[in-house]
Amino acid sequence: MAEDLIISGNTRRERYEMLFPQLRALIGDEKDLIANLANISAALRETFGFFWVGFYWVRNDELVLGPFQGSVACTRIALGKGVCGAAWQTRKTQLVPDVEAFPGHIACSALSKSEIVVPILHGETVLGVLDVDSDKLNDFDETDVEFLEQLCVWISSFSV
Ligand code: SME
Repeated sequence: MAEDLIISGNTRRERYEMLFPQLRALIGDEKDLIANLANISAALRETFGFFWVGFYWVRNDELVLGPFQGSVACTRIALGKGVCGAAWQTRKTQLVPDVEAFPGHIACSALSKSEIVVPILHGETVLGVLDVDSDKLNDFDETDVEFLEQLCVWISSFSV
């Protein structure tokens, strides 16, 4: 397929609804996890203009930086530390309207103002997390939770 995304629509919901079938087509039956996570990061950033989009993957007892789009970021995060470590520990999506108000938030960039982190689950096990940062306060809502959780269920299906 052509590797251009065609996205229209004014609302975030409309844009997710246009993006997801194209993402499925883009990835097709490709099995390489790094390639797939790289394209998903790029597609989310291109579609929504987010400040930073990427993955941290569980390796032994830490989250380790994986494919991402955006500025350089911290490489390793411990269980329970920051927003990513909280998503890992609780196995729950973390919706953070104001990162300054999140105790223990890890500031990879001072420009990041709000954040959503979704765990990628295989049963009870957390494989990794999807982390999306915005340079606007309060930029994420239940629509992002709904679609990004759906995305992470799909990612889990080709990650094990
Ligand atoms: N803010 C995250 C760290 C990762 S960066 O945002 C890319 C956290 O608190 O876990």
